[in-house]
Amino acid sequence: MTEPDIAVRFTAADAARALRAEARAGLTDDPKWLSPKWFYDATGSELFERITALPEYYQTRAEHRILHRTAVEIAERTGATTLVELGSGSSEKTRLLLDALRKHGTLREFVPLDVSATALRAAVDSLVRDYPGLRVRGVVDDFTAGIGALDAGGDRLVAFLGGTVGNLLPAERAEFLAGLRGALRPGEWLLLGTDLVKDPDRLVRAYDDAQGVTAAFNRNALSVLNRELGAEFDLDAFAHVARWDAAQEWVEMRLRAERAMRVPVAGLDLTVDFESGEEIRTEVSAKFRRERVRGELAAAGFAPQHWWLDDAGDFALSLARAR
Ligand code: AVJ
Repeated sequence: MTEPDIAVRFTAADAARALRAEARAGLTDDPKWLSPKWFYDATGSELFERITALPEYYQTRAEHRILHRTAVEIAERTGATTLVELGSGSSEKTRLLLDALRKHGTLREFVPLDVSATALRAAVDSLVRDYPGLRVRGVVDDFTAGIGALDAGGDRLVAFLGGTVGNLLPAERAEFLAGLRGALRPGEWLLLGTDLVKDPDRLVRAYDDAQGVTAAFNRNALSVLNRELGAEFDLDAFAHVARWDAAQEWVEMRLRAERAMRVPVAGLDLTVDFESGEEIRTEVSAKFRRERVRGELAAAGFAPQHWWLDDAGDFALSLARAR
């Protein structure tokens, strides 16, 4: 058994430094915020996998169905030699693309990139086992760092699935897409998954499920702060909140302090005061309309070429080409 090929660009020390900086900025801001990146420790990655199987969380199944139907067409249209996947997680859905590209005969290499080293290692191990002959090169990094330093051997298809682009704020998204475009040569491809605007009740239920898995996922951000920064958050004192912002067209997750409290964060030499009812914003998950996706891709220098929906029209996959 050879060692898996995994390049760690975002080390535990980098993560620790980034977490300290962000936690200080976010917990001393008004209103308070944390970035969703910190959900994904081993526990959080596991909770996220459970979310994807919840009855209320339609996204993963919808995207899977679209990929199931379109993977062959994507392989034919792109003829990609390298598939890069940003925020790959377990790389489950990606197998549909890998299968199609292999059958098409062009694929030589798969480069999954994820901020979670544990999730990435597990994914790389099982991919190496299941795809003999395919070069699999895992990269541990924050997807917003982009693919700048990934060498451009052949014709790349960058897949950014799951609607994760919606976790970026509009300005961050514009910067991210432009950076991605800058790292590609004209003619290379982007496959982008976006969740769509729909009935607000369904949207909120997808982020506030009956079993409370999403609530546990949300509160896990506080356990990460307790463990990594010696914070003393009482998880039971925070309520999970999911809310539709109709003006921004995004779902927000928040944690609401159920009583006034002072929370020491030893690792930051900081005490964080909460008023009763005060909230920390932990995630924004933007929902899109076709025109918006098209406009943002075009503004970043991509030519949108295809738009596929699941039967219910809940989720979209876009294929765009670098201009
Ligand atoms: C990482 C974008 C797929 O925003 O829907 C799931 C994360 N947050 N439930 C999303 C998430 C709460 C998720 N994605």
